[in-house]
Amino acid sequence: MPVITCIDDLKRLHRRRVPKMFFDYCESGSYTEQTFRDNTTDFAELRLRQKVAVDMSGRTTASTMIGEPVAMPVALAPVGMTGMQCADGEIKAARAAEKFGVPFTLSTMSICSIEDVAEATTKPFWFQLYVMRDQDFVAGMIERAKAARCSALVLTLDLQILGQRHKDLKNDLTAPPRLTLKNLVNMSTKWQWGLGMLGTGRRTFRNIVGHAKGVGDMRSLMSWTQEQFDPQLDWDKIAAIREAWGGKLILKGILDADDARRAADFGADAIIVSNHGGRQLDGALSSIRILPEIVAAVGDRIEVHLDSGIRSGQDVLKALALGARGTFIGRSYIYGLGAMGEAGVTRALEVIHKELDITMALCGERSVGALGRHNVLVPEGFAGRYR
Ligand code: GLV
Repeated sequence: MPVITCIDDLKRLHRRRVPKMFFDYCESGSYTEQTFRDNTTDFAELRLRQKVAVDMSGRTTASTMIGEPVAMPVALAPVGMTGMQCADGEIKAARAAEKFGVPFTLSTMSICSIEDVAEATTKPFWFQLYVMRDQDFVAGMIERAKAARCSALVLTLDLQILGQRHKDLKNDLTAPPRLTLKNLVNMSTKWQWGLGMLGTGRRTFRNIVGHAKGVGDMRSLMSWTQEQFDPQLDWDKIAAIREAWGGKLILKGILDADDARRAADFGADAIIVSNHGGRQLDGALSSIRILPEIVAAVGDRIEVHLDSGIRSGQDVLKALALGARGTFIGRSYIYGLGAMGEAGVTRALEVIHKELDITMALCGERSVGALGRHNVLVPEGFAGRYR
């Protein structure tokens, strides 16, 4: 077993152990992948200010996100098809998050259903909702999230239409995968993955199958998902969803200061500055580059969270120092899940936690709440280069 010291080690193992179509699904951006690349390279443009001779004992990374205590301000982001990276993937990731003391967010497009995850966990998790044209399905999903005791609804606003990811089309991505010769040859080299999948009954989108009208088999499921994202999603619909939900609401996919102001005026509990991991609007700015503008616009009125591009505790610290109250990781934990199941998600969290803790100490800070602009060195024009 290789020694895992960083998220990149988990990514290497993930690539080796999981069928190509699912690794590629995780490791893709839309179109030219410009934004997907910028998400990580822009973090690397920031530098940290070292402070010495500061008592660094008694440090803590503990904080809160939307009022919930967290061991560190790093939540697991909603990721579609997590249960294809590893059998029962959403259950395993949710359990790892629960034990670690960070929030887990279940995607609408998950393989394990919301009921599966509720049954396998003891603490409330968060549920990410896609607004679909089928209003009965959306209303039903909100009721199921209440019944599952979810403590926040994460409403995704940036996927009313799907940005194209070339690899998914070329790989003919489906869940479960089609048993073509090409897939069978590839899967035969991924025996741990295959054994896991043979041992579970959860191999397709269980939030949807049996719950959405007319979706009974693979063919109807594929056409349903292609047609269902609601192009008419607007602030009136968001208000109707808030009304039906009645609990904490996080708006995901904000990349513009005016949209952030609108979200704050609307009274959401938090926003997630996110470009969907570079999977939607190719050419959009990276989340970390737009963060300062959004924090300046609304940071005193609403919790600002960030996702897209975090691969280390140093990245988490940079986001917090530039004003994010919390962060989300997607790929960083999916690599762990694909590599080693639940233990791999725990390892990803441990890696990021340790990096955050040590980086915080070397920056001369003892709590994440004390982090601020004074901890980062930002190159001239970083936030203002693009207008
Ligand atoms: C779904 O959220 C995706 O980005 O594939």
